[in-house]
Amino acid sequence: MKLARLDHPADFEGWREAARRAVALGVSPDEMDFCVGDEAGPLFAEPLGAMPDGAPGLSVPRAFPDLARKVVCHADPERFRLAYRLLWRLQREKGLLEVASDADVARAAEFEKAVRRDSHKMKAFVRFREVETTDGQRHYIAWFEPFHHVVELTAPFFLRRFPGMIWSILTPKRSVHWDGAEMVFAPGADASQKPADDDTEALWLTYYSSIFNPARLKVKAMQAEMPKKYWHNLPEAALIEPLIRGAEAASRRMIETAPTLPSLRAEKQSERNTMARAAAVPAFNGFNKAPDTIEEAREQARHCKACPLWEPATQTVFGEGPPDAPVIFVGEQPGDQEDLAGHPFVGPAGKVFNAALEAAGVDRAQAYVTNAVKHFKFEPRGKRRIHKTPAVSEVKVCRWWLEQERELIRPKLIVALGATAAAAVIGKTVTIRDTRSRLIDLPGGDTKLLVTVHPAYILRLPDAEAQAREQTLFEEDMGRVKAFVPEIAL
Ligand code: URA
Repeated sequence: MKLARLDHPADFEGWREAARRAVALGVSPDEMDFCVGDEAGPLFAEPLGAMPDGAPGLSVPRAFPDLARKVVCHADPERFRLAYRLLWRLQREKGLLEVASDADVARAAEFEKAVRRDSHKMKAFVRFREVETTDGQRHYIAWFEPFHHVVELTAPFFLRRFPGMIWSILTPKRSVHWDGAEMVFAPGADASQKPADDDTEALWLTYYSSIFNPARLKVKAMQAEMPKKYWHNLPEAALIEPLIRGAEAASRRMIETAPTLPSLRAEKQSERNTMARAAAVPAFNGFNKAPDTIEEAREQARHCKACPLWEPATQTVFGEGPPDAPVIFVGEQPGDQEDLAGHPFVGPAGKVFNAALEAAGVDRAQAYVTNAVKHFKFEPRGKRRIHKTPAVSEVKVCRWWLEQERELIRPKLIVALGATAAAAVIGKTVTIRDTRSRLIDLPGGDTKLLVTVHPAYILRLPDAEAQAREQTLFEEDMGRVKAFVPEIAL
């Protein structure tokens, strides 16, 4: 029996390296085993030998690496051997993964599904609490109890979502820490390290009660998405039963009385509270479940009341474009015409944007176009509605939707049109001067960011010469996008 020792329970890279070596050495699946850390391996097992010189590379179906990555995250102790058996068999049975009735393939599919589900639940049910640190920095800590080894798999999601905060997620299996610059994984924690309630908790509970919509209550759907086994780590869980019990009466009241605003609207929120709320806002943003598709996200966003902008606006203007677009363009917020039409970038700024895309040879139909804030913010002046820049708190709260768009589309490139868009994507304020025209790596994935000016900036320039100069620079930036959009057949 040969044995490979892996660094941690979801050590996919270690497994892959050892599995390649084992195939090259001709070690059959019955003769191969894996153990983690200083765990004892099987009696009389010998360490796996070194890679033989000149061993050929392995070829596997395109779907296999992703499948194996998820399989090794499963809690079953057989996971590494199962993944190795599949790899070994794939060298001899090329179409194996298509045979759904094969026992190994079926088991791997079951493992993958369970891991995907657990990772989804982690995204939805992690609740950060703010803790004091000695250096005066705010640190957000969450405690979560996954069934499988999903911390490595799911951490990039939190990095994309909270790049500007210092946070840790502790689980009994593994922990992850982000200090604003580096993500570090560490062994599991125990429940005594669980963060205590903080003052964001009261805020979050108020928020949860105010967004709980009794008219939309579907108890079965809600419990299927938020199984009771997760409730003991969810502060809002204590509210669920009383809210459900009171739902019928609350529905009646809602119909009888004029619409009221969520109680938080009345509160003048300080920057600190907004950040705390952004950290504490659950992945669902007040809906029964996280969206699985862009269409579902768009439908949910139609009802979003997470900030006060929904009320005076005509409608939510959600992003538009192919759900697998390679590029997402992010503007600031819809303008007057976009608000009326319900589509992004169709007014004067949209014309400047379209002209630059055309000059650069980029087909807008291949990109996804959205905004940092999905409702029009304005000040009525006579019959006109004058654009108002969204507040930082509105950008932060609306960032949830941008995150969903990013997560579901997974573009190769995000183009931030202006400083508000750049701040929404990165999670902190940046200047156009310092960031413009460079391809910046975004943390937690392989998406790049390109920052450029907002097309409305060009429109507002006082003289034609400056406008022409800026239009050229803007077109040059659009030219940088071209490399990310596949050529279109004529
Ligand atoms: N400005 C934006 O930022 N977005 C639009 O959709 C229109 C104008």
